[in-house]
Amino acid sequence: MEVILKNPLDMHLHLRDGDMLSLVAPLSSRTFSGGLIMPNLIPPVTSKEELISYRGRILEAIGDDNFTPYMTLFFKPTYTEEFLKDIRDNLTAIKLYPAGITTNSEGGLSGFDLDEIGDTLDVMSSLEIPLCIHGETNGFVMDREAEFGAIYELLASNFPNLKIIMEHITTRDSVELLDIYDNLYATITLHHLLITLDDVAGGMLNPHLFCKPIAKRYEDREALREVALSGHPKVMFGSDSAPHPQDAKEAHFCSAGVFTAPIALQLLTELFLENSNLDNLQKFISDNGQNIYKNLEFSPKEVVLEEREFTIPNRYGDVIPMFDGKKINFSIKEVR
Ligand code: DOR
Ligand code: ZN
Repeated sequence: MEVILKNPLDMHLHLRDGDMLSLVAPLSSRTFSGGLIMPNLIPPVTSKEELISYRGRILEAIGDDNFTPYMTLFFKPTYTEEFLKDIRDNLTAIKLYPAGITTNSEGGLSGFDLDEIGDTLDVMSSLEIPLCIHGETNGFVMDREAEFGAIYELLASNFPNLKIIMEHITTRDSVELLDIYDNLYATITLHHLLITLDDVAGGMLNPHLFCKPIAKRYEDREALREVALSGHPKVMFGSDSAPHPQDAKEAHFCSAGVFTAPIALQLLTELFLENSNLDNLQKFISDNGQNIYKNLEFSPKEVVLEEREFTIPNRYGDVIPMFDGKKINFSIKEVR
């Protein structure tokens, strides 16, 4: 059996910088047409110069592949109208991190005071710049996303013309918000569709499945599957593929992040087929993202997958992928 996916998009992707960028960028650019590139470098991407030069380094790393990096800035409440107008044509979205909530987010926002952030959000609304949010509080780890729900509601209702993307949602509560607020959208990762906290810590601890937000309960995973498999128009694929070197994962203080970019299309095909929803995969993997973001540019690409056993490599350079060594049912046959 063959499955053809047109113009796959990864609307939440960490490509890092330096040697790591050289290693991982081609592993996305081979099969994806484009990706929304996260700005949490050290230091984070906060200026036009940094953004343009990071884009240049990405293009260099992908060589001749057809892949469009959709650039993001790291949200700062100090961004002015003048600054945002000047940078508008170079970016696709702005990513907001609560301070210290995940990898390299120390310079994020320490509170959601509308007096502090309102002006910037108003300008983003009028310039039609989507706001992507890592939606977690610093409460108890399993409740962080649920607690953040009130902040999503505050922002969605006060800035009705601002397109807000709830990044990597992991709970049933977040799924429910999608149908309450017109201006809320979401990305869902591969790993949150496949694992629960049991896979991370229910048996022997698996650091390669440790990420933020942490994988949740079976009923949460079920809600994510339902909404993704149905092809819901407000939901799109964002891998949150987040590589860390092996020694940063298998360590006293394990870094958060799951590396999935090179196996995402194969495993999504398997999941959608197993659940008899293969017809909706094209929506989840590309069409919905195009409709949500509008005007995304890319060169056409078709990925042909075939039902043939594939063993996930044990490593890509010094990065261990999710499910390393596992046999799966789909392989990439051709990219054209
Ligand atoms: O697990 C995660 N890793 N979650 C994030 O939000 C950031 C990411 C990273 O950059 O490593
Ligand atoms: Zn991320």
